[in-house]
Amino acid sequence: MYFPFFTNAVNAVVYIIMRIAFVFNVRHTKPSLDADAQAEAEFDEPETIVAIHDAIVANGYECIDIEADENAYGKLQTAKGKVDLVFNIAEGLRGEIREAHIPAMLEMLGIAYTHSGALAEAITLDKALTKKIWSYHGLPTPKFVELGFKEKLYVEGLTFPVIVKPNAEGSSKGVFNDNLVEEPSELIKKIRHLRKNYGDGVIVEEFLPGREFTVTILGNTNPYILPIVEQNFDVFPPHLVKFASYEAKWFFEDTLPDPRVAYTCPAKISETLEKLIGELCIKAYTVLNCRDIARVDLRLDAKGKPSLLEINTLPGMMPGENVVSYYPVAARAAGWDFNRMVGQIITHARERIGI
Ligand SMILES: Nc1ncnc2c1ncn2[C@@H]1O[C@H](COP(=O)(O)OP(=O)(O)OP(=O)(O)O)[C@@H](O)[C@H]1O
Ligand SMILES: [Mg+2]
Repeated sequence: MYFPFFTNAVNAVVYIIMRIAFVFNVRHTKPSLDADAQAEAEFDEPETIVAIHDAIVANGYECIDIEADENAYGKLQTAKGKVDLVFNIAEGLRGEIREAHIPAMLEMLGIAYTHSGALAEAITLDKALTKKIWSYHGLPTPKFVELGFKEKLYVEGLTFPVIVKPNAEGSSKGVFNDNLVEEPSELIKKIRHLRKNYGDGVIVEEFLPGREFTVTILGNTNPYILPIVEQNFDVFPPHLVKFASYEAKWFFEDTLPDPRVAYTCPAKISETLEKLIGELCIKAYTVLNCRDIARVDLRLDAKGKPSLLEINTLPGMMPGENVVSYYPVAARAAGWDFNRMVGQIITHARERIGI
């Protein structure tokens, strides 16, 4: 987008290109079962960074890249006054509110940015806290017990099977194939294991046996959804339980000759269910004050009713039609190319901020 204004001398139109700082965490190690490699699982691959940078430029903006490393604050301070907007996809280096670090720095510096604000980024990283807010608003989410790092290992009131997850991780980190627990006697061992490896606390949640969907929501005053994606667990080999475990995401889907068989978009569902899921996801997004874009993961319960699992305020955007990345999958089904996908987030941020 260009801002036209007129010079006095020649009355000619001069265009000033809007400048965007693109802030990200780049992956240096490919995810594996190794702890260091898992630490970077949420970060973006170098190809994704290049593709987003190019898309920002293709949308008519100047783009400067800023890696959100430990020197990020100084770099953003230098960028202040030189950029009109930050396109923020930084996952954060560490800590329980890591996704809120860059937004908080930008607020301190007074620089406008895309995606959700610091508060929503912090809350949505905490699965239990997010579910408490949804429950307050009457939105369905499976029953759960939250175990802080120092709390006693004591779980009651849940119907088995349950799934055990780190409370504040993404990209299926710590959600392993054997985290589905059928027997109460198995639970403590599993919780201990996760606690040892992921210090942020553990959530034990009733397992939803039904179909799984992921839904991208965009916009602010009138949020809307893109075509619904359904995960296709039928293609899983017998040793993988039918949920998006770390093993399934990082070792199985990647090895499929055509990973597109791992999902269906638009999901083949009735109009009634589609409407129900759409309304639910928009409410899930709105009550948390999410901005510009987010992606909700949900499943059907034993009665076929949709129930919310979590919301991702920094949804991945991998280029390439042969990779499983759900915002791009949904965007392609809507007829958007990669440039439009990136541009749409910027457009919503600009409308919201008024620039
Ligand atoms: N209560 C549940 N019932 C059934 N399956 C579940 C449940 N919770 C998690 N799962 C499965 O585990 C997957 C990963 O869980 P979740 O989405 O909570 O973790 P994540 O690591 O934050 O995911 P993402 O990769 O989307 O960031 C889900 O996509 C789903 O397949
Ligand atoms: Mg998820």
